[in-house]
Amino acid sequence: MSQKPTIEELAVFCKKKGFVFPSSDLYGGLAGFYDYGPLGVELKNNIKQEFWKSFVQSRNDMVGIDGSIISHQKIWEASGHLSGFSDLLLECPKCKTKQRADHFIEEKLNIPADGLTTKEIDELIKKHNLTCPKCKNKLSDIKDFNLMFPVKLGSQEDSSSTAYLRGETAQLIFASFDNIVSTSRVKLPFGIAQIGKAFRNEIAPRNFLFRLREFEQAEIEYFIHPQKKDFPYKINKALKISFLSAKDQESKKKAKELTFEELIKIKAMSEWHAYWLQEIISWFISLGIKKESLRIREHTKKELSHYSKATFDLEYNFQDLGFKEIHGCADRQQFDLLQHEKHSKKPLGIFDEESKQRVIPKVIEPSQGIDRAFLTFIYEAYDYDKSRENVVLHLNPKLSPIKAAIFPLLSNKTELTKKAEEVFDLLKQEFKCFYDDSGSIGRRYARQDENGTPYCITIDFDTLKNSTVTIRDRNTTKQVRIHIERLKDSLNKLLKGEGKLEDFGRLIK
Ligand code: GAP
Repeated sequence: MSQKPTIEELAVFCKKKGFVFPSSDLYGGLAGFYDYGPLGVELKNNIKQEFWKSFVQSRNDMVGIDGSIISHQKIWEASGHLSGFSDLLLECPKCKTKQRADHFIEEKLNIPADGLTTKEIDELIKKHNLTCPKCKNKLSDIKDFNLMFPVKLGSQEDSSSTAYLRGETAQLIFASFDNIVSTSRVKLPFGIAQIGKAFRNEIAPRNFLFRLREFEQAEIEYFIHPQKKDFPYKINKALKISFLSAKDQESKKKAKELTFEELIKIKAMSEWHAYWLQEIISWFISLGIKKESLRIREHTKKELSHYSKATFDLEYNFQDLGFKEIHGCADRQQFDLLQHEKHSKKPLGIFDEESKQRVIPKVIEPSQGIDRAFLTFIYEAYDYDKSRENVVLHLNPKLSPIKAAIFPLLSNKTELTKKAEEVFDLLKQEFKCFYDDSGSIGRRYARQDENGTPYCITIDFDTLKNSTVTIRDRNTTKQVRIHIERLKDSLNKLLKGEGKLEDFGRLIK
C-alpha cells in the first residue's frame, strides 16, 4: 500500500499545486469556505460531468434541473429544515468557546455520539467530569443550533423578506416537482437529478473539504410508485461490499462482506436501496476507487434525519480519519411531497395511467457530496513515488485536469517551439492541454505527475525529421514514438482506456 498523506498534508499539497485554496486567504481565510484553483476547477468539473453522464445522460428514466440557490422560506418550513435541521451546540459559560456537542463527546470519550439528545450529552459530561478544553471551566450550556443560512431580500425589514440559502439541493426538486412532471413526460419510476451548491452554517467546519459551510451536492430524487412492487433493475450478484448494520454497531460487531443480493435476501435493505448503492459504488470503482476502501454503514435509529425511514452511508477509509461518509442514500418515502402539498395547499403527485389516479410517489435519494468525491478521488490517487522523488497523482484520465502536456525538448530552439505550438493547436480543440517549455524535461515530467496528467508529448529533433513525437505514460513512465497524424486518435483511445500505450507506437528502450 502506498503511503497516504494526512488530510492536513493533502490540503497543503492542494494549495501548493493550485487545486484548492482557503477562500479569502488574503484576509486570513474564512472557516468552512474554499476556492478551487486552476487545476481544482478542472478536476471538479470532470467529476460533475462524469456523474451527469452516468446518472442522467445515459439513462432514459432521468431528467435534470438547476434550481435557484436562494429559496422561499416556506420551502424550508415545509421540509422541516427550519425546525429540525440543527446540531447541538455546547457553549462554555465562562470563556464562551463554542463547539459541536457530539464531536466534543466523540473526541473526549471515543464513542459514536451522532444523534445523542441534549439530556444524554449532559449526563455524559457530568459522568466523565468533562470541562471546557480552553479554560477548563465546567460545561453546562447545550442548545439547538439551526444550520440554515437566512438572507434578507430587497429593502423590506420584516420577516416576509427572509429567504434561505438552500441547505440541500433536494428541496428544489420537490418544490418544482409539479412543473417538472407536467413538462417532461416522465413515467414512474423515474429520477430527477441536480448538481449545485448547498449551504450549512456548520458549528465546526473541519478536515479540509470534508465539512464545509458552502459545498456542492449531486442529488437524485428517485420516484417510485407507492403501491406497485415490481422492480425493473438487475442486482449485481458478484459485487461484494463491506456492510455495517445498525444492529452490529450497537453490539460493537465488525462489518461483514456481503453481495447486494445477500443484503436484500437477509432484509438488510430494500431492492431500491441496494440498486442505488450498487450504482454509486460501481461509479466510484469505475473512476479509480478501490472497493476495499469503501463500506456501507446503516444509520442507527438515533441518527436518522427527520425525513428518513432508513439511510445507508457510503463511507471511504481516509487512513488518518478512519471511515467517513462520502455519500448518503436515504428512503425519504412520501415525506417531502406530502409536506409541500400540505403547506402549499396545492395537489402534488403524478397521474398513474393504470389506476387512473393521482399518486404521491415514494422517494429513494442517492445524495453525493461533490467536494467529498473530490477529496476521495485525489486522496486515492495520491502516491509519493520514492524512485521519482515526487508525488504522482494516479487519477483516472477521465478525471485528470489536464489530459496532455506538450513540451518542446529545448526552449531556445525556435524550430522545436514552433512545432510544439502546432501540436498544441492540433490537440487543444479536443482535450485540455498544457504547453510547457521551462525547465529540464525531467522537471516538466515531475510537475505533470503531480498534476495527474496522464500523457506528456515531447517534440524533439526527430520530430523535425520525420514528424514523430514521443508520448510518455504517467503511471509507467514508458514512452512510445508515434506519427503526429495518429496522435489525436491515439490519445482519444488512450484516454478512454482503449488499449495500452505500446499498442499505439514503437516503445522507446
Ligand atoms: N438531501 C440529503 C442530504 O443532504 P446529507 O447526508 O446531509 O443528506 C448528503 O448530505 C451528502 O452531502 C453527504 O454524504 C456529503 O457528501 C455532502 N455533505 C453534507 N454536508 C456537507 C458539508 N458540511 N460539507 C461538505 N459536504 C457535505
